[in-house]
Amino acid sequence: MQPQDIIRRKRDGEVLDASDIAAFVRGIGDGEVSEGQIGAFTMAVYLNGMTAPERVALSLAMRDSGRVLDWSAMGIDEKLLIEKHSSGGVGDEKITLLVIPLAAACGVFAPNLSGWGLDYCGGEIDMLDSIPGYDTAPSSETFMAAVKSAGGAIIGPTPDLAPADRKIFKVRDVTATVESVALITGSIMSKKLAAGPRGMVITVGSGSGAYMATPDDARELAESMSEVASGAGLPSVMLLTDLNAFVGTAIGAATEVIETVDFLTGRHRDARVTDLTLTVTAEMIVLAGLETDIDAARALAASRLKDGSAARHFGLMVKALGGPADFVERPADHLPAAAVIKPVFATESGFVAGMNTREIGLALVGLGGGRKLPEEAIDLSVGLTDFRQVGDAVGPDRPLCTIHARSEAEWETAAARVRAAVQISDTPPAPLGPIVIERIA
Ligand code: URA
Repeated sequence: MQPQDIIRRKRDGEVLDASDIAAFVRGIGDGEVSEGQIGAFTMAVYLNGMTAPERVALSLAMRDSGRVLDWSAMGIDEKLLIEKHSSGGVGDEKITLLVIPLAAACGVFAPNLSGWGLDYCGGEIDMLDSIPGYDTAPSSETFMAAVKSAGGAIIGPTPDLAPADRKIFKVRDVTATVESVALITGSIMSKKLAAGPRGMVITVGSGSGAYMATPDDARELAESMSEVASGAGLPSVMLLTDLNAFVGTAIGAATEVIETVDFLTGRHRDARVTDLTLTVTAEMIVLAGLETDIDAARALAASRLKDGSAARHFGLMVKALGGPADFVERPADHLPAAAVIKPVFATESGFVAGMNTREIGLALVGLGGGRKLPEEAIDLSVGLTDFRQVGDAVGPDRPLCTIHARSEAEWETAAARVRAAVQISDTPPAPLGPIVIERIA
């Protein structure tokens, strides 16, 4: 069947056979399906959805666009290989940069295939691309050796691993086709399965800063991914998270790497980021069989964070993938910095009562930190830092955040957008609830 026939059937609401989906994805890999056809297919899927068997077929076809890593010759106890992913949220992807070295410090082996920024959310790979020398698309052999020596390593799809996701991802980013249970399932699960783990923990966010609007939508996505994982014979834990507020204090590539190093070295630790990082890591430790009790696993993770082992493993990962050996000691010496770095103040005094987190993510895209074309290079230096959280006092002398921009004009546009996105009240609002709201295993 021609690609246009497959697109037409999905456009008209038909259910595709696994063989049609496999043929379409194979065509993407062979270069026989154009970017325009990928865009039309993803829009048809976005509008008409996919059945559970179609989502399984899409995930497996995308996985099989490359190879599945075989760890048997690596001298690693394979039951310790556990993957992690975030389904997307403003500020949420950096949790991967915290969890992978922390899990490694606890004895897990964590091969991680992540993604780039997608629409208004950032991506781990853009963050790591801001580190000079760090190779986010190495050969599979280099990646596996990095996982073995550092305990964990984060890269993106490569010509070898889930290459179809690379192409589909870049088109979805700029065609308003991100928020689809089927497409997110295929994108995430193809990467998770290609890494060859023995289990996985995935955080699935909902709220104004996430692709899924409500906890019910997030639950549907979690159940979809869980179904693909169990179909592949892998245990999984899905953690539903509340992403109605900014995660942590920074968004941007280099700016989130600085936040990562500050967190791992203990210079600054946001309470909700700490909670989410320890919760995810504890689940990985239990899936790896290193502890049977989740509280003991969390205590182990907390101790490895406190004693500096997680920071050390982050440094080992950076070095193993080509980055500077002294990165953790001197991150700012190596990372790009924006030309204009200034705080933005609220126009009235009060307390942050809420925020439209998606709008804040779009302010980053406007600064040049997100893409408008599939293969566009983004500015890795721009971002927002020191973002105030719900409940914090702000005003004409108390900043909402600091904006890192390429020019005064772009700084002004982003400042107006941030001011409009943050709601301020005269009285302190109710504190934010827990970031993890449900667990599905
Ligand atoms: N993360 C991914 O890797 N893919 C998506 O589609 C969303 C989040």
